[in-house]
Parts: sequence; structure tokens; C-alpha cells
Amino acid sequence: MISLKNIGIFITALFAALLPLKLLGQHQDDSKGLKDYYKSYFPVGVAVTPRQLQDSAQRLLILKHFNSLTAENAMKMEPIHPEEHRYDWSGADAIVNFAVENGMRVRGHTLCWHNQAPKWMFYDQAGKLVSKTLLLARLKAHIHAVVGRYKGKIYAWDVVNEAVSDDPEQLLRNSLWYQICGEDFIAKAFEYAHEADPKAILFYNDYNTEHPGKRTRIFQLLKKLVDSGVPVQAIGLQGHWSVKDPSQELLKTSIEQYASLGLKVQVTELDVSIYTDNKMPAPQPDGTASGFTPMQEERQLEQYAKLFQVFREQKSSLTGITFWNLSDRHSWLDNFPVRGRKNYPLLFDINLEPKKAYWKVISF
Ligand code: GLA
Repeated sequence: MISLKNIGIFITALFAALLPLKLLGQHQDDSKGLKDYYKSYFPVGVAVTPRQLQDSAQRLLILKHFNSLTAENAMKMEPIHPEEHRYDWSGADAIVNFAVENGMRVRGHTLCWHNQAPKWMFYDQAGKLVSKTLLLARLKAHIHAVVGRYKGKIYAWDVVNEAVSDDPEQLLRNSLWYQICGEDFIAKAFEYAHEADPKAILFYNDYNTEHPGKRTRIFQLLKKLVDSGVPVQAIGLQGHWSVKDPSQELLKTSIEQYASLGLKVQVTELDVSIYTDNKMPAPQPDGTASGFTPMQEERQLEQYAKLFQVFREQKSSLTGITFWNLSDRHSWLDNFPVRGRKNYPLLFDINLEPKKAYWKVISF
């Protein structure tokens, strides 16, 4: 006889039998990483240090989620070319070798920037600024050496970084590059990079790329370069954003505007700061640091969801998304722009576990 009790036992048994299948399903999903969820959209990358690659837990997290690497610092002009006749390839080689061994792409970052450029580049032995001719010759030697060494292994280069001014009255930043060469250094840097590796995809990279004023100035520069045949093929939106900035509209408009020049677009340095001001957060009532509050966590996951929604919609223009650092254990935003202020801008927490924002980004 079928009693209610028997039905109850049957249903319980059925659930017990199905539970492992459900767990198995979750487990299978868990073996996928960001790069797998976004396989039909774009490669997903991360900025790393050579030391991180030696730490097994971080190495596993990198291999699970990412299929592209950027050197956080190791390929910048100062670390890689500390003296005129001396290059230090150790960090860059470690990153490129790791990528090649693991079938990952590498974005080269960066060939010509006003920051982290060695002082010797701009001065002669008497301590005077060098001539334009000498500075361009040094730039050419640098670019040929660095791009040439990784030819065929680095598929894209950030050739010029942050050359556009934040001042609405000026197009270009008043850097030593600009003071010595005028605007020519930009076109020259692209020409040298193209000579050194004609197959590499060459980027102009900058921040605040979606703020209307700066966007207009960057567009103006890029249009001029494209119109005069300079080999620039793509723009990098650094993507140092926050829980409130940018809006989906501004992001979408900027991607479409840059793409209208025939350029590909990548987000090259993505992070989402939990702060919207430059103040030290007030401590909790018990005096401890405020940390990462549930409200900040909520706002951050909403912002990440909105950004990735735009990225997916714009996949015909977007050829890559790279995060700037791996987890909240270490971010360049710890201490910047507020000394002593910890930030939590990434998808993995300080224990390398996925955050709520991560689950949101892969649920679409
Ligand atoms: C800029 C540079 C990066 C990096 C960040 C801060 O965005 O392009 O290389 O230095 O600043 O870490």
C-alpha cells in the first residue's frame, strides 16, 4: 500500500540520489574560469609580477582564470633598461616564458611613458636635456631592443601610454618627451614598434578615456595619427574605475567612438575601486578598520555586472579585457591615492577566493 509515509521516504531517497549529481554539476562548473566563460567573447588577462608566478596558489588561480598576461612593471622602461647600455630582461623573460609554456598570450606594457622612465634617457653626461635627435635615437634603440626580443611571443604592445593631457586647455601632457620632441615622439614610437615587429598590434593606452573632455582630446590625437598613416591599430582603455564610474552610457559611447576610427579596443588595466572619494574611511564603532563593508560589496558587484554587460554587447570591437592585479591581496590601489587606505577592487579576495562580484560576472 502506498502510504503518505512511503511517499515521503521515496521523495527523500530521490533527493539523496540526485544531490551528488547536483554537486558534481557545481564541481564541473567550478573547474571553469573567467577565460572559459568568456571564450566566445574575448581573452581575459591579468597583470602580474614575476614573483607571483612562483607562488603556487597564485599560479593556479592565474592558470584557471586567465589566458593573457601583462607585466605589471617588468617591461616598463626604467626596470627593463636601467642604464643606456644595460637591459635587465630577468622579469620580462620570466613572464613571457611562463606564458609561452602555458599557451597564454602576452600584452607588452609599455614602450613610451612619462612615468617609470629612466632619467638617463633625457639627460646627457653634463646633466643637460638631450636634443630631439638624440632622444628619438634612444627611443628607437629601446623599442627595437625590447620589441625585437619578444617578436612573435608578445602579440600586442602598449606603445605610448598617457600622452594626452588632463588639462582641457592642452592636447598633450607637458612631459619631457613632449618638451624635447614636441608631438613627434608619438608617431615615431609607433613607427619604431612597427618596424621591430610588423605583426604586433600597436596600442595607444590611457585613463579617463570615457570622461567626455578627455575622450574628445584622445579622439583628436588618434584621428590625427590614423589620418596620417601612423601604424596605431587599437586603443587601450585602462579601466581604473570605481563603483560609480563610468556609467554604462559613457562606456558604450566611448567604445563606439574610438571604434569608429577603425581601431580595436581593449580594457587593459581593469579594477573597480570601492571608494568614491580620496578620504580615509572612518573606522567602525569598535575602532577597527572599516574593511570591505556589505554595502561596498553590493555596489561593486553591481558595477562589475554593468561593465561586463557592456563588454559583452561590444564584443565586435573589444578584443581583450585585462585586470590590473590578481586579487585583493595586492592592488596598486592599496595606498593610492590615499596612503594607508586598503582597497578591494578585484574579483578575488585576499584569500584568493572568488568574491560575489565574480559570480555575478560569470552569470549571464
Ligand atoms: C598606469 C600604468 C600602469 C600602472 C598603473 C598603476 O595605469 O599604465 O602601468 O603603473 O598606472 O599601477
